[in-house]
Amino acid sequence: MKSKTVIVKNPGPAENMLWEDIDIAFPTIGHVTIKHSYVGLNYIDTYHRSGLYPLPLPATIGMEGAGEVIEVGKESQLFKKGDKVVYALGPPGSYSDLRNIPENKLIKLPDYVDEKTAAAIMLKGMTVEYLTERTFPINNSHSVLLHAAAGGVGQIATQWLKSKGAKVIGTVGSLEKVELAKNNGCDEVILYKEKNFKEAVLDYTNGAGVNVVYDGVGKNTALQSLDCLAPLGMLVVFGNSSGNAPAIDPSLLAAKGSLFLTRPTLMTYNAKWQDMQSSANRVFKMLQENIIKSNIGGEYLLSDIVKIHENLENRNTKGSIVLKNDY
Ligand SMILES: NC(=O)c1ccc[n+]([C@@H]2O[C@H](COP(=O)([O-])OP(=O)(O)OC[C@H]3O[C@@H](n4cnc5c(N)ncnc54)[C@H](OP(=O)(O)O)[C@@H]3O)[C@@H](O)[C@H]2O)c1
Repeated sequence: MKSKTVIVKNPGPAENMLWEDIDIAFPTIGHVTIKHSYVGLNYIDTYHRSGLYPLPLPATIGMEGAGEVIEVGKESQLFKKGDKVVYALGPPGSYSDLRNIPENKLIKLPDYVDEKTAAAIMLKGMTVEYLTERTFPINNSHSVLLHAAAGGVGQIATQWLKSKGAKVIGTVGSLEKVELAKNNGCDEVILYKEKNFKEAVLDYTNGAGVNVVYDGVGKNTALQSLDCLAPLGMLVVFGNSSGNAPAIDPSLLAAKGSLFLTRPTLMTYNAKWQDMQSSANRVFKMLQENIIKSNIGGEYLLSDIVKIHENLENRNTKGSIVLKNDY
C-alpha cells in the first residue's frame, strides 16, 4: 500500500516538511496498520521538525493520531481490523494517511469518544493527568500559575485544575485569549505581554505566591516563574514554546524558599503500558463526566500542515488543533 507521509530531511522551518508517497509494508509481528481519520497537532511536533529535539533523519513526524485498524500483523492480539484507536506517544509519524505502529502504543476508543475528539485530547489530556495528579497532586487548598492558559494543554489543564478546586491564575498572549481563558474557568488572567506576571501573581495571592507553576513556555518565563512561588512550591517546566529554559542553579532554589524544580515528560510518566492505559482511561472518564471538553480551537486539512505549523509558532492558535486526513 502507498501512503502520503510527511518527511523531514533537513530540520528547519515549516516548509521543510515535504509530502512523499511511501510504501507501507504488511505489518510485522506485534504491529498493525492504521488509517488516520484525524491527527492531533502538538507543540512537540515543531521541536521534532526544527531539530530542537533531534530525530534520526530522514524523519517522519507527528505523535498523535486517531483512526481505524486496517491490517493486523502476525501474533497481534490486542486489536482486530475495524477497531477504532488513538495513540499519543508516537513513534513519530502521524502526519500521514496510513502507517504501521506497534500495537502496544494504541488505545482502543470507547463508544462515547469519536476519532476527532480523541485526536484533540489524548496527548494533551494525558499530559494534564500526570501533571496535576502525579507530578504535583492538586487539591482545593492549592493556588496555581498556568502559562499559555488558552492553548491546547492550557485549556484542558484549567478545566482539570478547577475540578479539583484549585485557584487558577492563567497567562495569555492576546486580549482575545484573555476572554477565552476566563470563560474556560481561570480565576484570574494575566496578559503577560503587557503586565509583569510576577507582580500580578503576588497581587492576586496577597503576596503569598502560588504553590505550583505549570510552565510550558520555558525560556521567556521560567526564571520569573520561580519568583511567583510560595516557600516549598514547585516549578514544573514541561515545555519550551519560547525556547529551552535557562539552566537553574540549585542554590537559587534554596534562596527563593526551598523550592522544587522538575522537567517532566509524558514519555517517562506513561512509559509503562499499564500507566499509559490508566492515564487514557482517566482522560476518557473526565470526558464522559463532562469535567473536561476537547476544546477544539480549529480543524484543518492534514495537507495544510505547513501553514498550521506557522500558525502555532506565531501564537495564532487557541485550544486543541485537529487535522482531518484528506488523503
Ligand atoms: N512535557 C510534556 O510531557 C509535554 C506534553 C505535552 C505538551 N507539552 C508542552 O506544553 C506546551 C503547550 O503545548 P500545546 O501543544 O498545548 O501548545 P499551545 O499551548 O497550544 O501553543 C503554545 C503556546 O505557547 C505560548 N507562547 C508563549 N511564548 C511563545 C513563543 N515565543 N512562541 C510560541 N508560543 C509561545 C502561546 O500562547 P500565548 O499566546 O497565550 O502566550 C502559544 O499559543 C508546549 O511547550 C509543549 O511542548 C509538554
